[in-house]
Amino acid sequence: MSHHFLEVRDLWVSYPDGTEALRGLSFRLEHGEAVGLVGANGAGKSTTLLSLAGLIMPHKGSVNLGGTILSKKTVGEIRRRIGFLFQDPDDQLFMPTVFDDVAFGPLNQGLSAEEVEERVRTALDQVGAGQLAERPTYRLSGGEKRSVAIATVLSMMPDVLIMDEPSASLDPRGRRLLIGLLKTFTHTRLVATHDLDLVLEVCPRTIVLSEGRVEADGETARIFEDRELLERCRLEPPLCMQGMPR
Ligand SMILES: Nc1ncnc2c1ncn2[C@@H]1O[C@H](COP(=O)(O)OP(=O)(O)O)[C@@H](O)[C@H]1O
Ligand SMILES: [Mg+2]
Repeated sequence: MSHHFLEVRDLWVSYPDGTEALRGLSFRLEHGEAVGLVGANGAGKSTTLLSLAGLIMPHKGSVNLGGTILSKKTVGEIRRRIGFLFQDPDDQLFMPTVFDDVAFGPLNQGLSAEEVEERVRTALDQVGAGQLAERPTYRLSGGEKRSVAIATVLSMMPDVLIMDEPSASLDPRGRRLLIGLLKTFTHTRLVATHDLDLVLEVCPRTIVLSEGRVEADGETARIFEDRELLERCRLEPPLCMQGMPR
């Protein structure tokens, strides 16, 4: 993993139908930071992540990954260095077995059979799914699929992990395992989510989006204590900060 940063400057993105999804977005992630990206539905979280990975090309502004500016020329390199976890694991898993899915990226990088095996084993062990290697992907539970999807990203050895709603559709135990896992990573992490309790546990810093702009960027606990800010951005405080009913 190289030393790097990820800087977004004055990013503007609109969709073909004219919707302006991002309107002058700027932030910078330092190497190894874990940052939550929160905001109401439609605030621009998914669009932000897609733009960082070059899956959508912004029409104005820049994405800079450790000195490499995203462009048509560099998009291949940027995509190799940014691991993108899609909201729906079914968008990430398409091979007959777990092994094949996790091996897919490293094989495409042109690694030898032994290197690929090693990458797959390491990635599956990291997510606690070593025993699933030979299983057909379509038979896995939701939580297992999520773990394997994360392994497909890890096997590429990305510098930066960006994740869209990683805890969506997980049961409480699957969510707990995911939180434990995300805490063990040392990658630079950007986690877009509605799960503010997860952010509180995993991300010391939070960026709040509202209508395609950064509304707040700072220490997670401070941001979640700011009821006025949360209300303005149509967010609810994390459950653990709402107080238990008597
Ligand atoms: N493919 C698309 N075509 C047109 N508008 C879109 C598309 N995807 C998202 N949008 C719009 O862009 C805005 C930001 O959406 P999105 O990034 O998905 O927000 P979030 O992930 O925070 O819910 C919303 O107004 C949404 O309706
Ligand atoms: Mg979204």
